[in-house]
Amino acid sequence: MSLVDKLNWRYATKKFDSTKKIAADKLQTILDAAQLAPSSLGLQHYRILVVEDAETRAKLRAAAYGQSQITDSSQLIIFAAETNINEDFGKKYIDNVAATRNVPREALADFEGAILGAINARTPEQLLLWAQKQAYIGLGVLVTAAAEQDVDICPMEGFDPAAFNEILGLTEKGLTATVIATIGYRAEDDDLSKAAKVRRPADELFIHI
Ligand SMILES: Cc1cc2nc3c(=O)[nH]c(=O)nc-3n(C[C@H](O)[C@H](O)[C@H](O)COP(=O)(O)O)c2cc1C
Repeated sequence: MSLVDKLNWRYATKKFDSTKKIAADKLQTILDAAQLAPSSLGLQHYRILVVEDAETRAKLRAAAYGQSQITDSSQLIIFAAETNINEDFGKKYIDNVAATRNVPREALADFEGAILGAINARTPEQLLLWAQKQAYIGLGVLVTAAAEQDVDICPMEGFDPAAFNEILGLTEKGLTATVIATIGYRAEDDDLSKAAKVRRPADELFIHI
């Protein structure tokens, strides 16, 4: 199947088969893809939580309008934006670039200046919005990678971020729950799996200039 075929196969799963777990290596492949998502300046302004614990997920379900996907999927993935994007965060990234590419830190002085400039030019609100936008790119890659691996997913915004932060202790970690995805295998009787895809027609979506 081509990637487009797989994206047609996938749908926002409403009902998961709670007896089916994703094999560890398959889940790892999907997470590896999410790790490779691009981000502005490469900063990866978020963390990705993989929640399997049943008790925690039961609490989170209550904070997600009772949506059954939270407890019935194989895992719940949470993209949590960093709330403290600051100079230290930028410098840590430069440390990583220097170590990964084996270049002296001094050689990255201009790049470091650009990174710190981009951080310092933003208000706290703009920094958070910036971080949250990057989290959505991570979600997009996760959704695509799951489809490629024949794994079902439901991207979700229907949850109370403050309650998620409280249950998971995210605020003290400098994080805020931004967008989530439940991942696993569709239940055979999820009627939506048979519904035709609804998308804006190409001539309404694309503008070729
Ligand atoms: C950011 C985002 C948030 C969403 N939130 C929810 C949600 O809370 N619950 C849900 O059942 N579906 C949710 N969806 C699924 C969308 O309704 C679905 O992707 C859309 O209707 C297109 O259908 P398809 O993904 O099945 O092709 C969300 C999708 C996205 C991308």
